[in-house]
Amino acid sequence: MPIARPEEREILIRRAAIEKRVREVAHRITRDFKGQRVHLIGVLKGACIFLSDLVREIDLDTSIDFIAVSSYGRGKESSGQVRVLKDLDSSIADLNVILVEDILDTGLTLNYLLRVLRQRRPKTLRVAALLDKPSRRIKPVKADYVGFTMPNKFVVGYGLDYSERYRNLKDVWVLHLPADAKEP
Ligand code: IMP
Ligand code: MG
Repeated sequence: MPIARPEEREILIRRAAIEKRVREVAHRITRDFKGQRVHLIGVLKGACIFLSDLVREIDLDTSIDFIAVSSYGRGKESSGQVRVLKDLDSSIADLNVILVEDILDTGLTLNYLLRVLRQRRPKTLRVAALLDKPSRRIKPVKADYVGFTMPNKFVVGYGLDYSERYRNLKDVWVLHLPADAKEP
């Protein structure tokens, strides 16, 4: 597998566990919004794989859109600054919106996005995050649907990247990189 040296990597969450959990989250959403439409908004690029699997397990009238933000400029560290790089294609007014994120880390990205989206008057606004690292939180944001709560480790795979690489891995891996790691 084309991923860091063996001593620098280990599987944290296997593909079968992800599949099972994604189905459970989707069923919960299906129950919570019974008889209604849900509009999923994926935060590019990390959430694209989670969103694709999630939406196919939701048994409701659905629609999807994407928004792209930059928060992590390079490597592993957050710059703390959030910018919209690609906005939504359509209005979310009066829709049941579920913002879909790959991972909730410091909360800076989500805190910013929730503020922006709330101003657009959705009917409801919830958050689904595949992974949650609560110990890293700077802003007090919570996801309504969480796949897995995890310790403070840097992970890649299933959409998550390290400098744009490894998004295609089917499992979620921990990368043990030197603290001063720069772009590979
Ligand atoms: P936050 O604004 O600090 O919550 O960061 C959220 C974003 O940072 C996520 O959408 C990811 O793109 C990125 N991120 C945070 N932790 C990790 C990680 O462990 N691996 C890969 N990307 C991460
Ligand atoms: Mg992301």
